[in-house]
Parts: sequence; structure tokens; C-alpha cells
Amino acid sequence: MQREALSILDQRTHATYEIPIHNGTIRAMDLRQIATGHDDFGLMTYDPAFMNTASCQSSITFIDGEKGILRYRGYPIEQLAEKCTFLEVAYLILFGELPTEPQLKDWVAEITHHTMLHETTKKFLEGFRYDAHPMGMLASTVAALSTVYPESRHVLDHNVRALQIKRLIGKMPTIAAYTYRHSLGYPYVYPNNDLSYTENFLNMLWKMVEPKYPANPFLARALDILFILHADHEQNCSANAMRAVGSSQADPFLSIAAACAALSGPLHGGANEEVLKMLDVIGSKDNVSAYVGKVKAGEFKLMGFGHRIYKNYDPRARIVKWAADKVFEVTGRNPKLDIALELERIALEDEYFIKRKLYPNVDFYSGIIYQAMGFKPEMFTVLFAIPRTVGWLAQWQEMLCDAEQKIARPRQVYTGPAARDVVLT
Ligand code: ACO
Repeated sequence: MQREALSILDQRTHATYEIPIHNGTIRAMDLRQIATGHDDFGLMTYDPAFMNTASCQSSITFIDGEKGILRYRGYPIEQLAEKCTFLEVAYLILFGELPTEPQLKDWVAEITHHTMLHETTKKFLEGFRYDAHPMGMLASTVAALSTVYPESRHVLDHNVRALQIKRLIGKMPTIAAYTYRHSLGYPYVYPNNDLSYTENFLNMLWKMVEPKYPANPFLARALDILFILHADHEQNCSANAMRAVGSSQADPFLSIAAACAALSGPLHGGANEEVLKMLDVIGSKDNVSAYVGKVKAGEFKLMGFGHRIYKNYDPRARIVKWAADKVFEVTGRNPKLDIALELERIALEDEYFIKRKLYPNVDFYSGIIYQAMGFKPEMFTVLFAIPRTVGWLAQWQEMLCDAEQKIARPRQVYTGPAARDVVLT
């Protein structure tokens, strides 16, 4: 019978070792025994940017990057996007199963009753400059909630955690809408508990003097689908930040602020804003070929293209493209779509992109939809952060409940000077 083990011969000592293999991995700590003598620390692995290191066991999200498969708790993303609401999917991601009807009713009611912000938080937001970037405002305001809910630091208490999870999912759209209204100088709109999660968000964004803002149901549903697609994506940069910061037992508001910071970068969630800027620079379909030439020459990257895990079409990008058509039926076609389609066509036929397995990722088309809906590009990453809060919280909770996890603290390979004495001149 085939043994699930790795035999290692250390050429330095001629010693042999047998390292067990579980789930296609070896434990890095099993390598520590491989040493040249008593004063040798033992072998470590070196893996900058976690190219080939699993940092945890997780039962939340499955991705097969070669085949372009994404599943939450076993359910294909395509089915969830078609058949479920965002809050149903949030429940699934957090608790492992889709809710029954009564469970969903309670869950929606609980999230809805946590949408209000403390008035001092509203004042806090007022202190930002008129041109502050919404992602900076979002991250700082979420961090500030830590001061409003000091009990949230008891992260090992299940009930305390459960309450903060509801608060965060409920309040993220409210903060996001406030950052938007602040940048426009509009008065804040309080949440309306009669509305669904996305309708309420649209109401807080767009309501002016009318007593009730009737959100377009197609746009509200399209946003709901986009939220489902963005809800979790296993150990990405921001989820890793959430787990790393949370592993010190920092409270969830501060940990989510760290995850927001990670998401804001242009190589991660900030890419959707960069895609729109890129399409503006390209300007028209005729300029696409020349632009791609510059990308190939290494002048800059094609934003919204490429992924650490997907080496095939990102399944989310396919659904976003489908949703774009539905949104354009309501809003009219965003002319940037033609540039994006041409960019995709040329890139997917080009040897440079084929060889490197570079395909459009979720950020390539999402900005085009958001812009058609009326959002400024600076808001795009905030629109990503709202649903991703669910994934961050699920990853955080899983980490805290995992007996194998400890404070995240990588090793290093020191390359600086050897010990030397200070000699004053
Ligand atoms: N445009 C042009 N070339 C690219 C791109 C791109 N978008 N992405 C990767 N490459 C090239 C790299 O230059 C490299 O080429 P080389 O082998 O000749 O040096 C090769 O493809 C491999 O790329 P890496 O940077 O090693 O891949 P990595 O897994 O580290 O990076 C990342 C993944 C960060 C997503 C990268 O593809 C990128 O920067 N894309 C643009 C930004 C973007 O869209 N980010 C959003 C990702 S999805 C998300 O976070 C929600």
C-alpha cells in the first residue's frame, strides 16, 4: 500500500527522515528535527509571500484555481448567486449551513437592528476632510467602533463574538454610505429597518428630500449578487491580515480595520478603482492594442488581470459580466464596457497573457457596473469591503476556535551583519 510519507536524506549528515503527509501537505515543524547537530536550530522553510504555504485548515471556502471553481461551504458560487440573497449566504459562510426560513427571518431581523451608528461615530466621520478617500474613512471609522464597544475585546467569549459579528455586518453599509455622503457634503440618511440589506444601503446613499427612496429592485438585486460574489475568498491578503491581527486577540473592530487596510491596496481590492482609471487612460477601443504593448514591455500591469490562485477564468468575473448586462438594461450601457471587452479579447489571444495564465479577475468588470449604478471609482473598494466583512469574520472566528492556532509569528532568514561592537569615533 502507498505510504503517505516523504523520505528525506540530509546530504550534510547522511541521516534519513520520514515526514508524514496529510492532505497533500507536510508540517513545517516536522522539518525542525533535521539538524546538523545539537547547536543547529533545525531546518525551516523559506516562502516569501506564502507562495506554497498553507497557514491554516479551513472549511469555509474552496477554490480550484486551475479549473476556475469557487464554492462556499461546498455550494458552487453560481448557484448561490442565482438562488440566494446576500444575508442567506452570509449566514452560510458564518455558520456552515444555509438558514431555514425561521433562522433566516431571525438573522435578517438581527442584522437590521444593528445598522445604526452611535451619534459620536457620526461626529467622528464629520472630522474627515471633504476629499478624504472613502477607504481611509471606512478603515478609520471601523477602528473607532472599538472605542464604542470596549467589551468586544473579550474575543474568546462566544456570545461577545456573536454580537460583534452582527454589529459589523449591520454597520458596514451605514459607515460606507456615510463616507459617500460626507465626500459630497450631503446630509446623512439614517438606516430604514423596513428595507432589505441592499435596498437600505441604496436608500442611505441616494435618498435626498423625498420621504422614501424607492431603490430600483433590479439594481438592488444586482448589488446583492455582487455582494455574494465578494463575500469570501479563503486566504487572500486581507483575510490573512484579519487572521494575523486577530491572532493577537485584538478586538474584531481593530482587526477588521487591518483587513480593510490590506484590501485597499491596488494589487488587492483597490484594483477595481485602478481598472476604471486605466480605462480612462486608454480612452478608446483603438488605443487598446498600444496599451497592451506597454503592459507587455513591463511599463505597468493590466489592472483587473491575473490572480495568485486562479490560472483559469475567475468564475466571479463571468457572473459579474452577466450582471453587467442586467444592470445596463436599467442604467444604459457604460461606454467603458467596449474598451474592457476589447482589452479582454486582445489580452486573451496574446502569448504574453496565455503563457502566464492571466485572465480577468473579479475586479475587471465590477467597477464598470458600479460606475453605471452611479458610484465614483473611489467608492468601489468600499463596495468590496461591505460583503467581504462576512468572510473576514468567518475566517477570524474559525481561527480563534482552532486549537492549533496561536499568535501568528513567522520566522525570518537573517541576512544582516554578524555581531559587532560599537566603536565610538
Ligand atoms: N498585467 C501584466 N502582467 C502581469 C499581471 C498583470 N495584471 N499580473 C501578473 N503579471 C505577470 C507578472 O509580471 C509576472 O511576469 P514574469 O513571470 O515575466 O515576471 C507573472 O505575470 C506572474 O505574476 P506575479 O506577480 O508573480 O503573480 P502574483 O500571484 O504574485 O500576483 C496579482 C497576483 C497581484 C493579482 C497580479 O496578477 C496583479 O498585480 N494583478 C493586477 C492587480 C489586480 O487586478 N489585483 C486584483 C486581484 S483579485 C483581488 O484581489 C480581489
